[in-house]
Parts: sequence; C-alpha cells; structure tokens
Amino acid sequence: MQKLQDSLKPIVALCKRRGFIYPGSEIYGGFANTYSYGPYGAELKKNIKDLWWRLFVHERRDMVGLDGPILLHPKTWQASGHVEGFVDALIDCKACKSRFRADHLIEEALHKSADGMNLKQMTEEIQKHKLKCPKCGAQDFTEARVFNLMFHTHMSKTGADGDIAYLRPETAQAIFVDFKNIIDTMRVKIPFGVAQIGKAFRNEITPGNFVFRVIEFEQMEIEYFIREADWQKTFDHWLAAMHSWCKKIGLSKNHVHEKEHPKELLSHYSKRTVDLVYDFPFGTSELYGLAYRTDFDLSRHAECSGQSLFYTDPETKEKFIPHVIEPTFGVERTILALLCNAYDEEMLENGETRTVLHFAPCVAPVKVAVFPLMKKEPLSEKAQAVFALLQRLWHCEYDDSGAIGKRYRRQDELGTPYCITIDFETLENDTLTLRDRDSMKQERLAIGQLIETLSKKLV
Ligand code: GAP
Repeated sequence: MQKLQDSLKPIVALCKRRGFIYPGSEIYGGFANTYSYGPYGAELKKNIKDLWWRLFVHERRDMVGLDGPILLHPKTWQASGHVEGFVDALIDCKACKSRFRADHLIEEALHKSADGMNLKQMTEEIQKHKLKCPKCGAQDFTEARVFNLMFHTHMSKTGADGDIAYLRPETAQAIFVDFKNIIDTMRVKIPFGVAQIGKAFRNEITPGNFVFRVIEFEQMEIEYFIREADWQKTFDHWLAAMHSWCKKIGLSKNHVHEKEHPKELLSHYSKRTVDLVYDFPFGTSELYGLAYRTDFDLSRHAECSGQSLFYTDPETKEKFIPHVIEPTFGVERTILALLCNAYDEEMLENGETRTVLHFAPCVAPVKVAVFPLMKKEPLSEKAQAVFALLQRLWHCEYDDSGAIGKRYRRQDELGTPYCITIDFETLENDTLTLRDRDSMKQERLAIGQLIETLSKKLV
C-alpha cells in the first residue's frame, strides 16, 4: 500500500508546497481522506467546472442546468436502491482494529479480481490464503460484512431513527427528483439533458491514493433523456463527447482508455456501462463513467412518490417514461489526472532540474504572470500598468521579488503558460518579452499586440 502512495509523492509534495491541495484539518493532525483546495487548487477546480458547464450546457441547445439539494427526501434513496444496495464488503483486523475493503485486500495480496464474489466467498478466500493485515501483519480477520456507504444525519432534535436523512452519494438523483419540474417549467423536448455540478459524499475506506478516492467530492453529471429506441446511438454520441472533453483539457490520448463493464457486474440500474480509465501512477483506474440507466430511476420515483413522471410528446401526444444515458465526471479525479499528466521534471542544459506542470491553458490556474525585471521605478509602474490591462481578462499574477530565473521557476511549478517581463527596452519602445512555459523561448512583442496574441494562445 505504501508503494501506491510513493508513486504520487512528488505530485502530493508539489500540491502542498505550491498551494494546490492541503491535507484536511491539518492543524488537528489531519482528518482521513479529506482535503482542502488551496488558492491554486481552487482556481484549477473552478476552471474545470466552468469549462465543463460552458461546453456541455451553454454551447448546446439540448441541455439545461440544475442545482439540486444535497439533502433529498430519504425516500429518494429507497427508490434509487441506495439504502439497500450501495454497500461495500468490509473486514476488520481483530488485532489492530484496522478496517479494509475485503475485495481490495484480496486484489492487492493475490493479484486477482474479487469482482462478483459474495461475502462468504471473500471471507473464505481471505482465510484460505491466510492473508495478513497490511497494517500489523496479524492473520486474524472478522468475517466480511456489508457496510452502507451513505453518510447520514438527523433532521430533528430527537435524533430518532425515523428522522434520518442521507447526504447524497451521487448528484444524479437530484435530477430525477426534479424531472417533473423541469418538463413542466422549461420548453425542453426529448432528446434533452440536465446537467449538474455538486458535492457527493461516500463513507469509503480508501487505500490512500491522494484525491483519487475521497469521502467528499464533486461530480459533474448529465442525465440525458431519450426514447428507448435511441439508446445505442446516444450512448455512442456521449462516449465520443467524453473523449473530446479529455482532449480539450489536455489529457494525453495514450493514457485514456475505455473499459466495458461485464454484464454480470453491472450496477442494478445499468444495462451498459463503459468507464473511461486513466493510467494513474498507481495503476489504470476509473476516471469517468458512462451508463445506460434505462427508465429505472424515473420509474422507481414514479412508483415511490405516486407522481406521474410521464413525458408527453408535444406533436404526437404519445406518453412515455424516458430512458436515460448518464455521462458522469468526477472533479477530483479530473484534477488528479491533470496533475499526473502535466507533472514533469526536466533536466536543463545547465544541469539543473526544473519541475513544471504542462497544463493546457484552458485549465491552468494562472494564465499569465507579469514581472518587472527589477523592483524599481519606472519598471514597476510600467509592469503594473500591463498587469492591470491583463487582469480584467485573465487570472494573472504580479511578482517582483527575487531573481527573474526563480520567478520563472515558480510559475513553471504552477503551470502558468506565459510570463511577461518588463525590462529597460520596454521603457524605450513599449515592447516586452513573452516567455512560453514549455519551450522556455522568449519573443519580443509590442504592448499593443499583447491582448490579441494572448487571446489566440490562451484557448
Ligand atoms: N451517478 C453515477 C455515479 O455516481 P460512480 O461511478 O459511482 O457513478 C461517478 O461515480 C464518478 O464520480 C466516478 O467516475 C468518479 O470520477 C467520481 N467518484 C466516485 N467516487 C469517488 C470518490 N470516492 N472520490 C472521488 N471521486 C469519486
């Protein structure tokens, strides 16, 4: 298990050092599987979410957005099957009291998949192979048993069992719960989709692969409503759209693959699921998912709420419960894939190593950094004027402290695509230098051309 974390070590260290991601509640000794997004992490996250919303909601005529609540009526989770079926098989070490996912224990120790094994089979497998506790080495486990992954809370002061409310484990259900409101209030026509970005919570035991699997995370989900007959072509459309998204944010095509879920392992609601998996340093693992959820969710909510969730075709007046294709994107996994994809340690000609994040400009937390060659007038005044010009258009940074080389290195580590330097020549002829992060080449440019040049580069 330590090995998995080690492969991420330089990235985790950079995230802490440069204000991308901090361990959660650190001053209290940390709070397992929670993280805080520092100033640059918050920008990166926002860029991802804004871009996703622009591409999948604003630039399409068949999509609308929603911002549903985290706390939904508890019946929602009975209808969706989560109360009964959203479970992991867990096992405890009797000696040190550590808790593990039984399937992970088997997979890591025996290098074979535990998919499809029931509780009894997993317990037997662990006993048969005398698997040891990864923490203390003892061979003394409890039997595997199920554990619901939903966090719950109480809605009233009494704390009675009947008052339990769940923190949503997926954003999707909020869309199904509001399906009737959307068709009643918006002029949507099938096929159409509803997109939502928001927090989800899962009480997961995790092997500690940084933000890959956390207990509080964000999803960007689409429920795309269709006629049953159209499911295959719609599925293909969204699979292609998900690949285009990966390309747009700069993920290398060679590291993104498709993984079809075998029929016998599909979730209770799905007739087909394909994951987009990414080659993370700790192994190839799920990045995003695409599922054909049939009419399962809307039918179950119609049944459990007693409300009609039929859609009526405005022309033919045909009534039916729409089927659903669901592309789902995790924000934290996007961030981790982007960091792994962008991270590089380059050996320079002078023998130094430069650490650089090769982020695509569209996701980079800072787009442009502006430096006066020295912290001295009139260089500073001129540099501040250029900064003010750019700041209205892009997230920029102004830095006037330390040697210029160090300032470049700092921006390289943040993944800033361009740095501008105001030098003595600027004072003479109103030109500046524009440095490209990846090639480290500098070009001389008139200040008057700066906005046009950057607009072309920062897409
Ligand atoms: N609505 C369908 C759904 O929730 P999922 O595969 O369980 O499907 C969707 O989750 C996406 O959410 C995953 O592909 C992944 O990107 C992200 N995700 C799921 N669990 C996560 C966790 N514990 N930590 C971080 N991201 C997670």
